[in-house]
Amino acid sequence: MAIVIIRQDHKIDAWKTALKAADPNIPVFSYLEDHPVSQIDMALVWKHPQGTLNRYPNLKCIASSGAGVDFIFKDDYPKKIPITRIVDTMLANDMSEHVIAVIFSYLKNLGQYRLDQIRGIWKPIDYHRVSDYTIGILGVGALGAVLAKDLRNYGFQAQGWARSKKDIAGLPMYVGDGQLPSFLAGTQILVCLLPLTGKTTGILNKQLFGQLPQGAYIINVARGGHLIDTDLVEMIDSGHLSGACLDVYHEEPLPNTHPFWQHDKIHMTPHYASVSDTASVVPQIIENYHRLQKGRPLLHLVSPSKGY
Ligand code: GLV
Repeated sequence: MAIVIIRQDHKIDAWKTALKAADPNIPVFSYLEDHPVSQIDMALVWKHPQGTLNRYPNLKCIASSGAGVDFIFKDDYPKKIPITRIVDTMLANDMSEHVIAVIFSYLKNLGQYRLDQIRGIWKPIDYHRVSDYTIGILGVGALGAVLAKDLRNYGFQAQGWARSKKDIAGLPMYVGDGQLPSFLAGTQILVCLLPLTGKTTGILNKQLFGQLPQGAYIINVARGGHLIDTDLVEMIDSGHLSGACLDVYHEEPLPNTHPFWQHDKIHMTPHYASVSDTASVVPQIIENYHRLQKGRPLLHLVSPSKGY
């Protein structure tokens, strides 16, 4: 019985070292080295090459090493195998810190001042104040709940939208398609934290942006697939939206020719808002590995019908 790590970035050795340090008795392999495919019962994956999961005849668990699992559902993976994802305090705190940093940068005009500096312009701009803004969290799961709490500590008014009812202390909630328009009408800064599913692909589009108040600002830290890129540019250029900060894109790295790169009102970061920290996350992988061996219920199971 063994774990295989399948990912195409440079972090494969770090994950292997962390898993071995946490439990030296578990055999752990990189998919790039010679490994006994019939002994693999858990695959720890992140944006793995499509089709690789079908190589393992005795696979019993597919573990995403991140919060998202959309890249697994896109693959032709063995359909009956349970899928788990990461739910981690550090991941949630990192995301919350990033979003709050972006919000303050927007309120204090830091992006504009940087552009002005490069152009030699000295031009104080009016302040925006925390009390004047309602932050709308689109998708209130493990990450959104922490963001909501942190926003409240800074004095922001926040509200959430989700497909099903969520009970988050102090957070006014809007539920389902029927309540989406009221949620949007009262949101000045929209933060997308939705999982990417068939129902949420392309949700950040012209029709949705049109329901936000004039001057609203968009923060997408979920997946590039949520956004219709041309609609965002059109709604910013028409003046309806005041700008956007994006961490995720349809294609990563984003091709140099993409209009986002040169747009003064689009602030880009390279999918770094919140990334699993091996030390923080490895204990739940090990815990699930032992649960798998004992036939006990796995932590953080994903629902294939919901897609998250
Ligand atoms: C990052 O994008 C994650 O899903 O953890």
